[in-house]
Parts: sequence; C-alpha cells; structure tokens
Amino acid sequence: MDAVWLTPWYPSPMADGGYDVADYRGIDPRFGTLADADALLAEAHALGLRVVVDLVANHTSEQHPWFRAALAAGPGSPERERYFFRDGRADGEEPPNDWVSAFGGPAWTRVREADGRPGQWYLHLFAPEQPDLDWTHPGVGDDFDAILRFWLDRGIDGIRVDAAPAMAKVPGLPDAGHGPGASFESRTWVGNPHWDVEEVHDILRRWRRIGDSYDGDRVFVTEAVVNGPERLSRYVRPDEMHTSFNFDYLTCPWDAARLRSVIDASLAALAPVGAPATWVLSSHDETRHATRFGRADTSATTGAGAPADPGPADPALGLRRARAAALLTLALPGSAYVYQGEELGLPEVEDLPEELLQDPTWERSGHTVRGRDGCRVPLPWEGDRPPFGFTAPGVAPWLPQPAGWGPLTVAAQRADPGSTLNLYRSALRLRRRVTATAGNDLEWLDAGDGVLAFQRGRSFRCLVNLTASSRPLAGWGEVLLASAPCDDLLPPDTAVWVAAPG
Ligand code: NOJ
Repeated sequence: MDAVWLTPWYPSPMADGGYDVADYRGIDPRFGTLADADALLAEAHALGLRVVVDLVANHTSEQHPWFRAALAAGPGSPERERYFFRDGRADGEEPPNDWVSAFGGPAWTRVREADGRPGQWYLHLFAPEQPDLDWTHPGVGDDFDAILRFWLDRGIDGIRVDAAPAMAKVPGLPDAGHGPGASFESRTWVGNPHWDVEEVHDILRRWRRIGDSYDGDRVFVTEAVVNGPERLSRYVRPDEMHTSFNFDYLTCPWDAARLRSVIDASLAALAPVGAPATWVLSSHDETRHATRFGRADTSATTGAGAPADPGPADPALGLRRARAAALLTLALPGSAYVYQGEELGLPEVEDLPEELLQDPTWERSGHTVRGRDGCRVPLPWEGDRPPFGFTAPGVAPWLPQPAGWGPLTVAAQRADPGSTLNLYRSALRLRRRVTATAGNDLEWLDAGDGVLAFQRGRSFRCLVNLTASSRPLAGWGEVLLASAPCDDLLPPDTAVWVAAPG
C-alpha cells in the first residue's frame, strides 16, 4: 500500500510550520480550500494512493478560539481548564515547575490578565504560540473524537499523531528534575512527568476504536520520540497505533555496526506486539541526510539540542551515502517513509538568510540554533531558476530555493537515467515485486566488517559497503540495482540489490 502523508494543512498563524492549529476543520488559505482537499483525496484514491493527515492534539494555536476564550475568561474559569493555566511560584514571578520547551527555554509563559497585570502562566511544551491542552478535561477528548470523524468521513485513510508522548501529564505537574539550561532530550528520559506518561495510551486506544469503526484500511502512525525501541513498541500494541516512526534509525550515524544494531533492536522490539517496522532517513524536523551523511558527525540532531555549528559537509560524499542508504532503507522489512525531496537528493539549505528563518528554535535559542528551515525549502519541479515551478513565476514560496537547483529539478532528473530520482523510481518498482514474495524475515550474511549484507526470502539480497575500500561482489548473485556504478567490486559507500545465485 502506498500513501502520502501531509503535514498540517489547517488554518494556522504558522508559528511552527502549521503545527499550531487555529481551526481543526479547515484548510489554510495558503494551501487551498476544503473543496481542494476533497479533490486531492479523490485524485489520490484514483491513483491508488492513500492519504494520511497530521493530527496535532497535544496543543492548539494561541489563536484557536478555545485559547482566546481561556485568556479572556481569566483565572479560575472553566475556559482555562482546557489548558494548563497555573499560578507561578515565588509570588507568581517564577514558572510553576521546571519543565522545558522542545524549542529551548522554559515550557511556561506568563499572561497579562484583563487588568493589564502579569497573571497566571500557561504550559507549552513547544513554542509559546502552542499552548498544551489538558486531556483530562472531558471536552478535549470529545472534540478530538469529532475532529477525527470529520476527516475520516471526508475520506482520509489515516492520521499521523503529532507529539504523541506529550498528550498526558502526571497529575499535579511535579518538577521533572531538569537542571538549569536543560534541553529537551526525550530519548533519554525515564519516568518523566510530561513525556511518555501512561495515560497517553488511553487516548491512542480511543482513536483506534474510532478508526476501526470505519470500513477500509485506516492507518494510524505515531510520532513518539521516546527512550528506545521497547518504549516505542508500547505505542503500537494491537489496540493502539498501527506503526510509529523509527527515530533510532533516523538519527543513526552512517556506521555499519550501529545501523545493524538499530535494525536488530527495532525488529526485536516490535515482534512481540506484532507491529511492522518503519524506516525513515529524513523528515521535516531533521537535517536532510544527503548533507548529514557528508559531515564528520553523520548522526542527526536538530531542535534545541542540536549543535550550533554542525561542521562542514562534503556534498558528493553525502549524496553517495544517501543513495546507498536509500537502497538499504527500501530493502528492509516493513514500511519506508520517503521525505519529499530526498528522491531528488536535495541537500540541506544551510545558507538561508537569518531574517527569513521561521523555525521557532531560532528565536528561542537566542539566535544560536538555526533550526529546521533548511530541510523545508520547497521542491524544484522544473526550469532553471527559482521558483522552479513550485509557485507561479514571480511568486516567492515561503522559503527561497537556491539559484543553483536547476540540475536537481524533477524535470532534469527524469531525463537522466543515473539520477537519484530514477534510482528511487527503480527501487520502489522493484521493491514492490520483491517484498511481495520476501515476507518479513531478515537474515544477516557475513560480508566482513563494515559491510551490511542480508537476505530476505529465497533470493533477495542487499549489500551495503560502509568501509573506505572496495569489496568483492563475486558469488553474491546477479546485481538488480546499484546506488553507484559497480562491476565485480562493491565500491565504498555503495549499496546493491542482488538476486542470490541458484
Ligand atoms: C513534531 C513535528 O514533527 C514538529 O514539526 C513540530 O514542531 C512539533 N511536533 C510540535 O507540534
């Protein structure tokens, strides 16, 4: 099954790329109308594509009518109970607890009350423009049931649950024990009072029941950056979500032993709950892998915890590895996510002018961490100058495309048999044939240190050379697809798919 996942398309002030939703039942005019959404669903379905939309339920926009009403209604009002409004500590001067925002700084902002004086604080685990909802308020769950049904009734095939581990908080909102200047390291947290709290699973089960009450195959995906594969597997128990993004794989460095151990751990953790694995190399939140694989440190860290200067990247090396990584990813059992533009080998845009940066991380880090805009630059479709067919000529997209992206356009790559676009197309076509017969098993084969080699089914093999020297290919089988030219040797940073002999 193939599907398109759309990041939030709802009306939004865009304080966080649309993850600040002002109306859950509409389409932002920048993107179109509800009628356009219906047309998109119909066209995708006619092409055999499913459509998954983002559901952002941990927080709303500060412009959402619920939050506007809560601000206006004042302390102690029922309107404020939908969110986390609390009095501050130290005579109101200090935040109510030590929780931190994913974009840096404290997770609390103080409001001015109707009399103009500083008053209560409200919780936002992300930007101040994204106040957290209190899911213990019955109205919140009821409204989201209705929102989910609204979109399922319109024909969406699934949802991607944003920031799932954030949706429940330990009652009383106790300190997390974060030290001064702590950053949002949710992959290391154990027993945290605002992340991966047990009651999150009640919400996921509630939505799954709704999804299951619809006909057809509805697929629910969570975004859950938690402490390791075992914690993650809890989000995909049989009555919860169908799949979850695999952040351990997404952030793994270009290193054979590390990749193998992440792949093994992912498969082992999911086996007991019977959920399929997912594999993803890039997203709208991470540095594009064609760039990070060309750096000295090939792991991914963005957001508030990212280094201010990740160091220079070798673009040719990064792209070579990215192409090999694509063949590795698309060979693994389970579902693979392709982030728009990776099929063109797009690099991170690292030189966006500071005044155009939109990611809240930039402001919240005191202009030290640039954030995620560099992976969100719109796709180049055709032509030799911006906007490369993404918008009408002369209409600037929300972030500028590099002038030199002409050779990377879809049109240019279509015409080039060796392009990254054609590598992805061949791989996806072949994958459909191969996975139809290969089952879910994966058997590691010994190809020496630094080379990943595995077999699936009776004859499909994938080999990836992560060493600095070429390795013999003789005896491994007939090459079906290669990420770079190879004869009887597998060059460094190259992957091949082969059909085993016999
Ligand atoms: C995760 C989304 O992927 C990210 O883009 C967003 O900033 C946060 N959740 C907050 O909604």
